[in-house]
Amino acid sequence: MLTKNEHSECASEIGENFAETQLDTLHRIHFDIFTLFPSMFSGPLNESIIKRAIDRALISICLHNIRDFTTDRHHICDDTPYGGGGGMIMKPEPIVRAVETVLTHPAGWSLSPEDAYVNLPTWSADAPASLPPDTPVILLTPQGRLLNQRIVADLAQHQRLALICGRYEGVDERVRLQVVTDEISIGDYVISGGELAAMILIDAVTRLLPGALGFDLGAHQDSHSPGLDGLLEGPQYTRPPTFRDQSVPSILLSGHHANVDRWRREQALLRTLHRRPDLLNHASLTASDLAFLHKNGWSPSDRQVSST
Ligand code: ADE
Repeated sequence: MLTKNEHSECASEIGENFAETQLDTLHRIHFDIFTLFPSMFSGPLNESIIKRAIDRALISICLHNIRDFTTDRHHICDDTPYGGGGGMIMKPEPIVRAVETVLTHPAGWSLSPEDAYVNLPTWSADAPASLPPDTPVILLTPQGRLLNQRIVADLAQHQRLALICGRYEGVDERVRLQVVTDEISIGDYVISGGELAAMILIDAVTRLLPGALGFDLGAHQDSHSPGLDGLLEGPQYTRPPTFRDQSVPSILLSGHHANVDRWRREQALLRTLHRRPDLLNHASLTASDLAFLHKNGWSPSDRQVSST
């Protein structure tokens, strides 16, 4: 359970009903989040799939308040930009100190609240620490590579991920040069800081872990996922069979599994054709998919320039 704590803290409880023998076989990821606003995370990470993944020890999360790693009297983390211009820039020392201190400790370590500011582990401002080479240190920034399902799947292969949430007008470039190994954007728009972007990344990665969704097929059949060969998922229905004169397509009530599968595939193709034709360029399409798309007005020469 993550509390609404302003200091650093970790959530890694193991659910009571989960046999320990199962844990060995499950892939586990530890997230270290570096932020000036740790309490932003308490709501989203304490609900639903993320909460269950924490309870089942599929993931663990430590929130590190960058401000805890300042030693000046006012705990300042930002300053005006050299060369003028508006806004504030996040200073390099608190972030680099936080990242180097945490990542040179085992996963699950965080600074105790009573040690914040006053009793920090030794750190050198002059010499870079050697960081674990297999732990990506990701800066969430609109300048990063655009997050997509392939990147999410790659990140899900790591056992530890460090996420730095930038704020204000940006972070001092030396943070990138000293500790950042990857930069990720959640889209071509600007939000007020990397925190919401980090939560999106954690959610997307976590739902790929076996056992996270609580049903077998899990994320495999999601839009953009390998189970759908790069297509968008088609329309879905549940009870009641008729709502405001709109009925569920009769084929879904037919009990004929092969026909249902074929209908679903065609609906996925149509939805992708109508909404994101650029995805068809890279989708794995069978001869009958191509024939169906052709019948509906698409040909491979209609290749669109991908927007992602
Ligand atoms: N911080 C501000 N905007 C962002 C974006 N689009 N992606 C990731 N981090 C951000």
